Amino acid sequence: MFSVKTNPGNNMKFFVVLALCFAAASAAVQPLTPDQAVLVKSSWAQVKHSEVDILAAIFAANPDIQARFPQFVGKDVADLKDTAAFATHAGRIVGFFSEIIGLIGNVENRPAVETLVGQLSASHKTRGIPTAQFGEFRASLVAYLQANVSWGDNVAAAWNQALDNFFFVLTSNY
Ligand code: HEM
Repeated sequence: MFSVKTNPGNNMKFFVVLALCFAAASAAVQPLTPDQAVLVKSSWAQVKHSEVDILAAIFAANPDIQARFPQFVGKDVADLKDTAAFATHAGRIVGFFSEIIGLIGNVENRPAVETLVGQLSASHKTRGIPTAQFGEFRASLVAYLQANVSWGDNVAAAWNQALDNFFFVLTSNY
């Protein structure tokens, strides 16, 4: 029928690339220090019940993200804010962060975090959400935090590391 020619040089290159990927993977997730975990948890506690407000801010800043939600596309964000459907979605999306933030700061919870974020990654990959839109989501979330929690360089650095870790796991199998 047909045969596939393998070249030992190519195989070697493949393993070198694979090894570099694993090295990059372990380097990319840098666990938060205990102080950073406390800062992320305490600042999140200031906004975690503002689910509707947070999702509304993200939609308002990114109509392309809103457009991915069939039931919300093209609608006025101010009108959506009063609907039960919007509250339900906001609760799911923002609640996901609450679940993850509840787990960080304890190394024993790392497998659980990776499982949850891995599932989120799979569901969004299936929907065809590009990584660029995760970047937009991240920027708007940080802008919201900056405006609504006690913010400072140490809080910013803690969130930056937490979100680097989160989005690294989210997109590493994309
Ligand atoms: C990293 C931030 C995000 C988080 C934490 C998040 C979280 C979630 C959760 C928990 C769900 C429901 C469960 C599921 O289907 O997996 C969901 C659904 C969904 N997400 Fe995300 N999401 C994020 C970013 C995005 C972005 C950037 C988009 C689009 C650009 C998006 C589009 C969707 C859509 C279309 C659904 C399905 C909604 C429906 O059921 O009609 N998500 N998301």
